[in-house]
Amino acid sequence: MEKLVIEGGIPLKGEVVIGGAKNAAVAIMPAVVLADEGEFIIENLPFIEDIKCLEDILISLGAKVENLSDSAVKVNVDGIKDYRALSEAVKKMRASYYLLGSLLAKFGRAEVAFPGGCPIGVRPIDQHIKGFEAMGAKVTIEHGIIKAETQDGLKGAHIYLDVVSVGATINIMLAATKAKGVTTIENAAKEPHVVDVANFLNSMGAKVKGAGTDVIKIYGVDKLTACNYSVIPDQIEAGTYMVAAAATQGDVVLKNVIPKHLESITAKLLEMGVNVEEGEDTVRVYCDRKLKGINIKTLPYPGFPTDLQQPMSTLCTIAEGVSIINESIWEGRFKHCDELKRMGAKIKVEGRIAVIEGVQKLSGAEVSATDLRGGAALVVAGLVADGVTEVTNIIHIDRGYEKLEYKLQGLGAKIKRVKI
Ligand code: EPZ
Repeated sequence: MEKLVIEGGIPLKGEVVIGGAKNAAVAIMPAVVLADEGEFIIENLPFIEDIKCLEDILISLGAKVENLSDSAVKVNVDGIKDYRALSEAVKKMRASYYLLGSLLAKFGRAEVAFPGGCPIGVRPIDQHIKGFEAMGAKVTIEHGIIKAETQDGLKGAHIYLDVVSVGATINIMLAATKAKGVTTIENAAKEPHVVDVANFLNSMGAKVKGAGTDVIKIYGVDKLTACNYSVIPDQIEAGTYMVAAAATQGDVVLKNVIPKHLESITAKLLEMGVNVEEGEDTVRVYCDRKLKGINIKTLPYPGFPTDLQQPMSTLCTIAEGVSIINESIWEGRFKHCDELKRMGAKIKVEGRIAVIEGVQKLSGAEVSATDLRGGAALVVAGLVADGVTEVTNIIHIDRGYEKLEYKLQGLGAKIKRVKI
């Protein structure tokens, strides 16, 4: 067990290099299963627990995995012969559900242990299942295992998603790559990571068209081959550092970003009075004045991302006036607010709405990371608070933020990891 100990009140200054996108990488790793044979080299992977977990899962399926560096991996898929992913690692993370689509496409059947992930609300997978069933699979859930099987492979289908779902869009895309005929996904998610996964699949020889719009067409192919690929930068990690720079009245240049993917957070920061300057693949965030409260509603891309709602709520706690946050994606994503209140924040949560009344200062306290982004929100709070903040339960943070304390130290923060 470890905790992060932060001495707050230091403006962050300097440059930080953003890593690869977690939510693209956690789909790309399971997608390697689709190749019949060969060796992948995947670069710009985030150095996080979720990726280590997926490496273990691939090894348990028969792949050979070699880490070339903290951000690059070589995966040989020749030995993957098992359609069952039932290891403990599968149960630990959400994105293991992408093995359903990949294994089903490869073997015509799949058995995958029910996925875990952040406690941010009910996380149904009915739309994934609806997609597989439309393609001819029979799906059952028994003893905590999702089983999907087909008589003679998957067939292309027309699927209209009832909700805009990143997971269902990607999982159906994976399954459809080798299906007979054409699959159309309507009301598809448009997140940058959906596009990145489509680009990865196309690099393997798939025919995925329209990713990034709400209609995606997948023309099934017989064979997919291994490839080399570099994952896009992490929009959410970048957004978190942007918030941290603004909260501490700092001046930070983020490198290795795609500014277009950050537009919704940039727009909100500008509205609050923060300065944001976009370069080709950099963003500079600096702030030297009191922030103004704002209203936020989380929405699927290109709307404001739910994954940045929690860090942004910390910023609202120290902004002038009242901010209202409407969380439209996950009903359980305000758990961190009780922890922020220990630090002096004034927040009232009613269902999916949080009303935040800005205070002059937060004060350091012992707080517990409730989930991944909630944990990041508490670290930001610690960076700006008076005195010392201790964030426990950081296992959640390690799942999705690479080298967080090192990157923050590089920006001048006083933060260290301590064994409990
Ligand atoms: C992905 O989760 C991300 N996780 C989440 O990031 C992110 O919050 C979410 O997308 C939304 O952007 C990964 O990529 C591993 P959804 P996912 O399916 O795919 C409902 C983080 O912090 N829904 O887009 O599981 C669902 O209840 C994590 O990095 C159904 O009703 O989310 C939710 O209200 C946390 N039925 C909405 O759709 C389904 O079958 C969006 O969920 C699927 C989803």
